[in-house]
Amino acid sequence: MDAQASDDSRRDMIAISPYNQLALPALPQGRGRIQILDTTLRDGEQAPGIALSSDDKVRIAGALDDLGVDFIEAGFAVSSDIELETIKRINDLGLHATVLSLARSVNRDIDAVAETGVDTVHTFIGTSDLHRRFKLKMTKDEIVKRAVETVEYARSRGLKVQFSCEDATRTELDYLIEVYSAVAEAGACAINVPDTVGVIVPQGMNYLVGELAKHISVPISVHCHNDLGLATANSLAAIESGATIVQGTIGGIGERTGNVALEEVAINLFANYGIQTVDLAKIGPTARLVERITGFPLAYNKPLVGRNAFSHESGIHVHGVMSNAFTYEPLKPELIGTDRHIVIGKHSGEHSVAGRLKELGIQMPEDRMPDLMAAIKAAAIGDKEIDDNELAAIVDHVLSRDTERKDAVTLDGVAVLTGKGITSTATVNITISGEHRTSAETGVGPVDAAIRAIAEAVGGQYTLEEYKLAAINGTSQSLCEVTVMVRNHAREGTGLAVGKAVGPDVVQTSIDAMVAAVNRDLIKQ
Ligand code: KIV
Ligand code: ZN
Repeated sequence: MDAQASDDSRRDMIAISPYNQLALPALPQGRGRIQILDTTLRDGEQAPGIALSSDDKVRIAGALDDLGVDFIEAGFAVSSDIELETIKRINDLGLHATVLSLARSVNRDIDAVAETGVDTVHTFIGTSDLHRRFKLKMTKDEIVKRAVETVEYARSRGLKVQFSCEDATRTELDYLIEVYSAVAEAGACAINVPDTVGVIVPQGMNYLVGELAKHISVPISVHCHNDLGLATANSLAAIESGATIVQGTIGGIGERTGNVALEEVAINLFANYGIQTVDLAKIGPTARLVERITGFPLAYNKPLVGRNAFSHESGIHVHGVMSNAFTYEPLKPELIGTDRHIVIGKHSGEHSVAGRLKELGIQMPEDRMPDLMAAIKAAAIGDKEIDDNELAAIVDHVLSRDTERKDAVTLDGVAVLTGKGITSTATVNITISGEHRTSAETGVGPVDAAIRAIAEAVGGQYTLEEYKLAAINGTSQSLCEVTVMVRNHAREGTGLAVGKAVGPDVVQTSIDAMVAAVNRDLIKQ
């Protein structure tokens, strides 16, 4: 496939609003291509709850490079010897991306960065009134002087410099222009505009970057935090007014509510502005890797990479998606290397279940679908989702039930008492051939007590010969499948009958299997 064809085929995987093209401005020309600076390993790792080992960081750096980011901010070299060594290891990988380290506007920090062997430093100093007065206790002039001296020192140590005014979006515009102009003149190769606590709105960012672009000739970078949920919109607004580097993290991890999620930026740039940045098909795998390694779970509803982003359960949506996925999706999941997930659960309609069965190659007679739907609803208690193996087991269970013959025994109610230091007791209410019966038994555990109570209630002639329990998908949320074999001592021959049941609760499912076995046996009479 040539590049144009693959670009066109990717475009066919997106169904955005036609109003976007009518309303979006043309991007400023001549400022160069849009580049992505990933700070997952620095600002991302600063998120409370994330602590990465050196090996973890090296693995993530490899994945980021595969994804195709332009810069990897690998850490904050001066923060510890391990951090410095890790940045060095990442730099020594010889990645395509430029590896850089953060540094305060302090010469000692620059020395640490130089020691890592990287060729670029990202240096910063707070410039807002809040930072000047309450953090740095420095005057405006002192801050400009320090910023310039540090850039000059970094240049003298052979480093390229990207420079940030921390809290830029709460800094006076004329002062920002003064600081950025001074550091650019001192040799900074890019200036970065951090929205440190996520307080600007897209129109504000558009204005701010537009004003800076009138005065600053080096590339402008943007660094948005997501405190008020506007990080993606703000990053795009900055690009619209002249920024060409976007800093962010995978999955939007970072301090407090995080940094801008780079995958959101990349997809919006592609879909709405026709700009290709990273390899879109690697977005899903990279986000999953970062999630696994950091142990920081992506919110289920996280755009693009959360587990619900391409999941459908309600009947109307599944029906629509199966007819044309764009009815309820903005883009095809394969565009970003992820899967659609049709969830079978309590909201599923017959159409979704039939569709899933077809995909799995499982035959189900149409006239048995109502029974299957009832069994699914019974199994999908709470938020329980039915996976493919569980669905297959429910189908087997439903199809194994005799539709012609009415069950002789039905379970009307059950109560089980169990716990540490007490003997498990079960009480069951059943109807057998129209007669209501109650029986209570004790056992070594709740399942044993319940099975004994059923055996007693149906007449005492049954003993349990075999009991098998399986968690179908091997998790504690799994549906379980219970198979029992009972012997009817009142019957001639072996008197054996098998019963099976599938359900979410071990005790209840064991009772259902026992009742099924007794009904099987009674059919023979
Ligand atoms: O959010 C911020 O201001 C930062 C700077 C260090 C760039 O992360
Ligand atoms: Zn930040």
